[in-house]
Parts: sequence; C-alpha cells; structure tokens
Amino acid sequence: MTLNERIEKALADYLPGKDCLEKRLIDSMEYSLLAGGKRIRPLLVLEFCQLCGGSIEDAVPFACAVEMIHTYSLIHDDLPCMDNDDFRRGKPSNHKVYGEDTALLAGDALQALAFKTATSNITQENAYNTARAVNNLAEYCGANGMVGGQIIDLENEGKSSGIDILKKMDKKKTAAIIKSACEMGCIVAGAGDEDIKRARVFGESIGIAFQIQDDILDVTADQSKLGKPVGSDKENEKSTYVSLLGLEECKSLVESLTAKAIDSLSGFKGDSSALKELALSLSNREY
Ligand code: FPP
Ligand code: MG
Repeated sequence: MTLNERIEKALADYLPGKDCLEKRLIDSMEYSLLAGGKRIRPLLVLEFCQLCGGSIEDAVPFACAVEMIHTYSLIHDDLPCMDNDDFRRGKPSNHKVYGEDTALLAGDALQALAFKTATSNITQENAYNTARAVNNLAEYCGANGMVGGQIIDLENEGKSSGIDILKKMDKKKTAAIIKSACEMGCIVAGAGDEDIKRARVFGESIGIAFQIQDDILDVTADQSKLGKPVGSDKENEKSTYVSLLGLEECKSLVESLTAKAIDSLSGFKGDSSALKELALSLSNREY
C-alpha cells in the first residue's frame, strides 16, 4: 500500500459506525473527510516520522488527526457566515448537501474525533510522546493558531490590510497546522529538540508558501481542476499576497520559501529526499 492509500483506509476506519440515530451527522462527516483532498498534512506526519526513524504505524493516528482538523476547518470555512463558498474538493460544500446546522456539527464532531484518534493507540510506553503531540496539535489549531488566523482573516475583509497583518494571518490560518503535522511526525518518532526545530522551520516555510500559492491559484487556476471557486478572495474583498504584491513577486516568494524549507532538511541524518520532492511539488501545484 502507498502512504496515500494507508491514509485513505485509516481515515475511513476511524469514522464512527452509522447504526445509530446520529447517522446523518456521520454521513456528513464522511462526505467531507473522504472527499479526496490532497492529504498533504497527513503525508507530512508520516514522512517526518519516517525521517526521524519512527514507524509509519505509530504515526497514522496523528496523520489522520491533522486531516480531520483540516477537514473540519474547510467545512466551517465554506459556511455562509465565513467565506460562503458552494464548492469544495470538486463537490458541493458540506452545507449545500446537509444544511448549515448539520455542517456546523459535522465540523465540531470531526474536531473531537481528531483528538480521540490521536490518542487511540496510547500505551504506557508512548504516553509521553502522545501527550506532547496532542498538545502541539491543540496549540496550533486553536486561538493562537488556525482559529486565530481565521478571525484575523474575517476581521480584515473589506479592509486594505498591509503585508504585516497578512503575514501574521497566514502564519496562523494555514501554516500553523502544516507546521504541527511536521513537528508531530518528529515527536511521535521520539526525535530530539534540534530535529523538531528543523521540522518547524520546514513546516512554517512550506506553510506560508502554500498559502501564497493558494492566493495565486485563486486568480490563475481553472475551477474544474481546483475543485473550489476561483475569484473567491476578490468577491470577499480580501487583501491577499497577490493583491498586495502582484503575481510575479508572489511566485518568487514561493520559490524562496521552498528553498528555505529544503535547506532546513540538510540537518537531518535520515533520507529526506521524499520531503524535498513534496516541497517542490507543492510550489508547482495547480490545484
Ligand atoms: C486548502 O488546503 C486550505 C488552505 C489553504 C487553508 C485555509 C485555511 C482555513 C480554511 C482555515 C479555516 C479555519 C477555520 C477555523 C474555519 P488544501 O489545498 O490542502 O485542500 P485539500 O485538502 O482539499 O487538498
Ligand atoms: Mg477562508
């Protein structure tokens, strides 16, 4: 099985059974979780764990946990009270199929399922690293991380915010959980502080590059490839890297951040070529 196939299978296995009165909620969670995203964040968990000498099997619960958090954030981000987008991952958004009430709850339940999943293989031996990884994920997805970035985003709609605010926003909204994925992979493998720090630099650099590329694609992409509406930022009157710096400057920023990420891999003892390839492919992505 490829790493992606392992992720897909594990995500399906961690969903609750449907033989209960909550079936519609679980259908709605499944609809978005198994909608075929690129699975970048779980791949990062697995690759960093492998790089630091850990086993894929030990990393799978954390890989699935970060994808569950990411999926909940996409469901909530598409709601009418947020970005109000009707398409995601090439299909109608969750609330377009299940209604806003169920979509809200599906996001909430996916967030809880993430923490249950991350701790599902806890033993006496791995309890310390499991707790550290969960603490890392909670920190990066909460008020000073992804959710914090989202409120900065909402509060800046319709304003001509400067690049400093945008940098802070993207570091939290998008880069924080990408960074968490990288760090958790190392933590689960029992890596030392120096390697965790290198993973943090890698995660933050590709995370910011990822958001800049997202802003570029919102202007240049083909909607059928992207799987979500293009031009959404302009419609929501958002300042983005592209609106502030222009396309060319953005492209060179993506390149320099990717180079910084790749550079941070040189300190690891293991084979980091898969992560280098992943960083390069993200900087050239078209969806
Ligand atoms: C696309 O990921 C997503 C982003 C670039 C992140 C945007 C940030 C949010 C939606 C945070 C929202 C936060 C809250 C609390 C509502 P991707 O291209 O990896 O998507 P994929 O998984 O579908 O491939
Ligand atoms: Mg948004």
